[in-house]
Amino acid sequence: MAEDVFKKIVSHCKEYGFVFPSSEIYDGLGAVYDYGQNGVELKNNIKQYWWQSMVLLHENIVGIDSSIFMHPTIWKASGHVDAFNDPLIDNRDSKKRYRADVLIEEQIAKYEEKIQKEVAKARKRFGESFDEEMFRKTNPRVLEHAEKMEALHQRFATAMNDNNLEELKQIILDEEIVCPISGTRNWTDVRQFNLMFKTEMGSTAEGASTIYLRPETAQGIFVNYLNVQKTGRMKVPFGIAQIGKAFRNEIVARQFIFRMREFEQMEMQFFVKPGTEMEWFKRWKELRMRWHQALGFGSENYRFHDHDKLAHYANAATDIEFRMPFGFKEVEGIHSRTDFDLKQHEKYSGRSIKYFDPETNESYTPYVIETSIGVDRMFLSIMCHSYQEEQLENGETRVVLRLPAALAPTKLAVLPLVRKDGLPEKAREIMDELKFHFNCKYEEKDTIGKRYRRQDAVGTPYCITIDHDTLKDNTVTLRDRDTMEQTRVSIDQLRALIEDKVSITSVLKRI
Ligand code: GAP
Repeated sequence: MAEDVFKKIVSHCKEYGFVFPSSEIYDGLGAVYDYGQNGVELKNNIKQYWWQSMVLLHENIVGIDSSIFMHPTIWKASGHVDAFNDPLIDNRDSKKRYRADVLIEEQIAKYEEKIQKEVAKARKRFGESFDEEMFRKTNPRVLEHAEKMEALHQRFATAMNDNNLEELKQIILDEEIVCPISGTRNWTDVRQFNLMFKTEMGSTAEGASTIYLRPETAQGIFVNYLNVQKTGRMKVPFGIAQIGKAFRNEIVARQFIFRMREFEQMEMQFFVKPGTEMEWFKRWKELRMRWHQALGFGSENYRFHDHDKLAHYANAATDIEFRMPFGFKEVEGIHSRTDFDLKQHEKYSGRSIKYFDPETNESYTPYVIETSIGVDRMFLSIMCHSYQEEQLENGETRVVLRLPAALAPTKLAVLPLVRKDGLPEKAREIMDELKFHFNCKYEEKDTIGKRYRRQDAVGTPYCITIDHDTLKDNTVTLRDRDTMEQTRVSIDQLRALIEDKVSITSVLKRI
């Protein structure tokens, strides 16, 4: 069922110009996608919402735009050359490749599903008087599943932290995990696979050096932090924000734009005094959750997931997960990265990049709290939540994208009722005035009903219809996407009525 909905969302994205498979006429390229005419607008609005929430709302956060290509030693220093690996395993029968950690995580989720099923069954049986907490504590089947889940969880966390590939394979064998394609347990050993893409810089083979496509935008911030601090006269604590492309040679690229090989990140590194990092970690966790929830999708659709296995640079980490049609999934990571990166860059570059505190006259290497969110994952979560098929009173169904108005690609569709009698000219006149304030689309083809449906499908929050009365009394019909209510309003009022509701400022004020 949820799978069907997801398939519909993917085809809706294509049919309405949001997302196309890359190089489609050449049969596509694995896990690479292009954004179409509506997709790019939605994506730009997401980026603007993030950027403004960081750079406009915080006096001590500024932005940069660093290059994708960086000195190759940066990736040695950051640990990515040696440790940015995924453990992969192949099934000999299907010849399919999987991430060993993902296979085990899915197995853990299966125990949780079993518990949920027991709870749902009992709720049905006991009705009103059902005490879920008591049931979870006492039901023998639930306890058995919970115990197995916890044991597996512990074993998995230990294996991952110890980088113990043999143990990962053993877990897969012991849990009798089968390949979803062949249904067999004919597994190879687990091997490490580095996710960075390599290329060469320089004109001759001999003179060329190997460089990497950045797997995160964060390093561009680290190596520039002192430039920004000095030229911007920033005082710790301060932050640097950046939006840009990142590249990872993902082993298993699945679920549309959820896991891509070329994607975009919005990252902010917040530089703090050592010893204060946990306080700031907590503060940024709360702030980022508020940013997500200001979009109005309901707090029940978000949760934090604290990491068992910490990345090589972190002393605390959590994910903000969103309820997608295929379960709760990570959209954003918040990491306390210690002084690992800055210290490593000092060591590998041989330059001092310490911060000098003019108030205390001390020099130190700041600690860093990072917030890191994928634009594409955010896009997917918004699409999944907004896509709805609605049964209308007249028996018809309509597909409507209930996008937050501030993120919608088009804010207002301007529709003359017919293509004659001076109505198109009047509609153009209104459009020429309003287009300076928000994104408007003019459409005159097809019946008004069909045009409304097309606008619903791309998430346009408002439509206005220009009819014969407009020429007499300067009023238009304003239609609301969500309620489908139509009201008669004066043309002079349009801008004031719409502008505030569709502005990013209106969402920023809710954070
Ligand atoms: N600088 C830290 C960092 O990159 P991460 O958890 O690996 O941390 C941060 O990535 C975010 O980037 C994720 O929460 C996700 O939204 C996005 N992301 C990571 N890999 C991705 C991929 N292959 N495709 C799409 N988005 C991805």
